Amino acid sequence: MCSLPIVLLLLHLSRNVYAFNFPYESIQLTETDVQNHSEIAFPDQFHGPSFSNASCKTYAGDTNWPSPEKWEAFNATLGGALIKPVPLGLVCYSGPTYDAQKCAATLVSFSNSSLHTNDPASIVAQWLEGNTCLPMLNTTNKTCTTGGYPAYVVNATTVKHVQLAVNFARNANLRLIIKNTGHDFLGKSIGGGALSIWTHNLKAFEYLPSFQVGDYTGRAARVGAGLQSFDLSGYMANGNFTIVAPGGSTVGAYGGFAQGGGHSGFTSMYGLVADQILSLQVVTADGKFITVDPDNNDDLFFALRGGGGGVFGVVTSAIVKAYPVTPISLVPLEFDTFSRNTSRISNDIFWKGIDVYHKHVTRICDAKGIGYNFIRPIKLPFSNSTSYVFTTSLELPKMNATEALAFATPLVADLNKVGINIPTPIAVYISRSVGVRYPGDDISNIVGNSRLATRLFPRENLEDPDLFNATMKVIRSLVEEGGYTFHGINYSPTEEVSGYPDSAINPAFRKTVLHAEAYEGVPATGTPDVITTRHDRFNQYFQPLRDVSPGAGSYMNEADVSEPDWQQSFYGYHYPRLLSIKKRRDPYDLFWVPTGVGSEGWEVRAPGAAPQQDGKLCRVADSLKRKP
Ligand SMILES: Cc1cc2nc3c(=O)[nH]c(=O)nc-3n(C[C@H](O)[C@H](O)[C@H](O)COP(=O)(O)OP(=O)(O)OC[C@H]3O[C@@H](n4cnc5c(N)ncnc54)[C@H](O)[C@@H]3O)c2cc1C
Ligand SMILES: *[C@@H]1O[C@H](CO)[C@@H](O)[C@H](O)[C@H]1NC(C)=O
Ligand SMILES: *[C@@H]1O[C@H](CO)[C@@H](O)[C@H](O)[C@H]1NC(C)=O
Ligand SMILES: *[C@@H]1O[C@H](CO)[C@@H](O)[C@H](O)[C@H]1NC(C)=O
Ligand SMILES: *[C@@H]1O[C@H](CO)[C@@H](O)[C@H](O)[C@H]1NC(C)=O
Ligand SMILES: *[C@@H]1O[C@H](CO)[C@@H](O)[C@H](O)[C@H]1NC(C)=O
Ligand SMILES: *[C@@H]1O[C@H](CO)[C@@H](O)[C@H](O)[C@H]1NC(C)=O
Ligand SMILES: *[C@@H]1O[C@H](CO)[C@@H](O)[C@H](O)[C@H]1NC(C)=O
Ligand SMILES: *[C@@H]1O[C@H](CO)[C@@H](O)[C@H](O)[C@H]1NC(C)=O
Ligand SMILES: *[C@@H]1O[C@H](CO)[C@@H](O)[C@H](O)[C@H]1NC(C)=O
Ligand SMILES: *[C@@H]1O[C@H](CO)[C@@H](O)[C@H](O)[C@H]1NC(C)=O
Ligand SMILES: *[C@@H]1O[C@H](CO)[C@@H](O)[C@H](O)[C@H]1NC(C)=O
Ligand SMILES: *[C@@H]1O[C@H](CO)[C@@H](O)[C@H](O)[C@H]1NC(C)=O
Repeated sequence: MCSLPIVLLLLHLSRNVYAFNFPYESIQLTETDVQNHSEIAFPDQFHGPSFSNASCKTYAGDTNWPSPEKWEAFNATLGGALIKPVPLGLVCYSGPTYDAQKCAATLVSFSNSSLHTNDPASIVAQWLEGNTCLPMLNTTNKTCTTGGYPAYVVNATTVKHVQLAVNFARNANLRLIIKNTGHDFLGKSIGGGALSIWTHNLKAFEYLPSFQVGDYTGRAARVGAGLQSFDLSGYMANGNFTIVAPGGSTVGAYGGFAQGGGHSGFTSMYGLVADQILSLQVVTADGKFITVDPDNNDDLFFALRGGGGGVFGVVTSAIVKAYPVTPISLVPLEFDTFSRNTSRISNDIFWKGIDVYHKHVTRICDAKGIGYNFIRPIKLPFSNSTSYVFTTSLELPKMNATEALAFATPLVADLNKVGINIPTPIAVYISRSVGVRYPGDDISNIVGNSRLATRLFPRENLEDPDLFNATMKVIRSLVEEGGYTFHGINYSPTEEVSGYPDSAINPAFRKTVLHAEAYEGVPATGTPDVITTRHDRFNQYFQPLRDVSPGAGSYMNEADVSEPDWQQSFYGYHYPRLLSIKKRRDPYDLFWVPTGVGSEGWEVRAPGAAPQQDGKLCRVADSLKRKP
């Protein structure tokens, strides 16, 4: 039997030190570790200048940049987990590491997202790095620079690694970034000259048949922050449960994806991935490791479910809701202006068909399904005019094939009525969805490296007759006159289906039935002027989508880094509350990402006009002062 003081001590330890999901979280930074080492001290220690007044973060070449000996000592405290990253394209440029064969191989696999997710620093939306070391065969008179790449990467496999990186960066006034998979479209997982925490190897998983926290009792799973969708597919395929996972197989589920929202085939049925979170383990800006759930640190429990990745702390693991094995039926539909099947319908009939589809959208969402569609303009050979193709996949959870087909029949009938004679669709029944939409979908260069924008249209845009026409008109103009591909996703993660309503999820998500997305359609490479001119043209056609949905928002994870009025667009009325949490939890401005909460005080001074990450991170006030 324990004596009372020992019981109290154990309680104290279990609450404050030993609360964790996985063994890698039991390895933590202690007060003893940091004694006599001001570089890695916690902010409440005797040493460590935690607040810096400097106008910029500290960079290599600055007098305050840590000496080689300090980096070496830091690496020693990390047990050797410090990496000096090298751009993937370096093998293509003249110098000691030039290698024609490796260059050719890199070029071939450069559009493969796995190449970037498995690399400590590289990202999928390459252009945000600054395009400073693209692989290419002929690099005559071209140079490779480290541009937007971080100076060092901590290959985190324990909580202690994360705490060390946080304390070291804060004390030395370094820019700190977090990279999980590097899928982010806004440049949030790269940063020139930064110290990066790479969470990719935090991969543990454990299914919990029953779990209780706050109001929730039921199935759950412990999940490591580095898990990718394909990892979750593997666990689901072999287990007796469903969890909500990203549609893209290499996307990380519990980093930026979950923290910024995270939509999937189950969004209308179970809510966003942020809505699945029951509890989190987090390293905060002061280097402390804490539990975040309805009973502990409720400010962060609010902020980390929807308030965005890379801003409030480093998540090392979470506990998320799980469900009984959930079947899903898919019904693909297609019509276009050139196939024999649809009797070469005119453009006007094609757009009538688009109207018809959108008249069925609220019905799809109310049935807890989603629609996943594209309107593509295409140039066929031997034709001078543009053709148009509409494809959609209705994804209908908990319906069998017969039910799904019956559900789609009124839509097909309405299309027939306007003269679009598509054949009777075939419904595909999947008895256990494993989340991934297209298995083997590694190739993502165009989608991943092209600038894009999104708008979360509320229900009234499709229900109000005037607004309906106005909405369809701007979509048509975007595709027909702009020549851009439109990607619509119809889902409806209302508070009713999502549970735990007090989260930072963009309020626009709760009302939406149409996530409207458009791409510039080509990789964002070229000179800064080319990037800017192309973007200006794109914006000319996207802005009307914003204008026709005043007060709505955009999805921060699939967005334009130059989104106007981004605080309103990405966070809605939650912004002031999020900003006060940010100021309280991170008074050091340690965690900074473009368009993140509190980011307006800082800017990246990149050489080009485009918002890329190949420059120093400096305070905005100072830059204003210096401008004439
Ligand atoms: C091919 C492709 C398919 C996509 N499909 C979908 C989709 O189906 N649904 C959808 O909603 N979105 C989708 N997205 C967008 C996706 O939500 C974002 O790219 C998201 O940022 C990815 O998060 P990540 O952690 O994998 O990426 P990263 O780029 O590594 O991280 C994104 C942000 O989160 C932060 N972060 C990462 N890990 C942590 C952590 N452990 N703690 C704190 N902050 C962290 C980073 O600092 C960064 O700010 C897709 C993107 C691509 C390129
Ligand atoms: C820190 O330094 C003091 C004084 O030099 C010494 O007494 C103490 O043992 C040191 N602590 C550790 C953990 O090394
Ligand atoms: C920050 O600036 C103020 C005013 O200039 C100064 O008094 C203070 O010492 C500075 N703090 C640090 C840590 O440099
Ligand atoms: C860190 O230490 C490990 C092991 O000693 C070594 O392999 C690695 O190169 C070091 N990292 C850096 C950036 O020097
Ligand atoms: C992408 O790269 C991964 C990892 O190297 C590989 O397994 C996969 O087959 C590649 N995909 C394609 C389409 O080449
Ligand atoms: C490589 O590029 C240089 C400079 O742009 C050009 O002059 C040269 O002809 C190119 N070489 C080949 C083999 O294409
Ligand atoms: C490469 O640069 C050198 C020096 O500036 C110049 O003399 C040469 O003509 C350039 N070569 C090509 C192919 O552009
Ligand atoms: C990261 O660390 C893991 C675990 O130690 C190791 O297996 C892996 O090779 C490391 N990755 C890199 C790129 O160093
Ligand atoms: C799987 O879960 C269901 C309930 O969702 C249960 O009825 C069934 O017995 C379980 N099957 C196995 C093999 O555990
Ligand atoms: C056209 O009809 C044929 C035969 O019914 C079918 O196999 C094909 O998939 C249809 N194509 C389109 C685009 O619907
Ligand atoms: C395409 O346009 C050219 C020039 O305007 C014209 O000569 C040609 O006949 C057109 N071809 C078709 C298939 O309409
Ligand atoms: C589909 O579900 C219905 C009940 O809604 C049932 O009558 C029918 O037998 C099921 N069909 C199949 C193929 O399982
Ligand atoms: C919407 O447009 C259709 C034709 O495209 C027209 O018949 C209908 O009257 C319009 N509705 C409103 C409310 O203007």
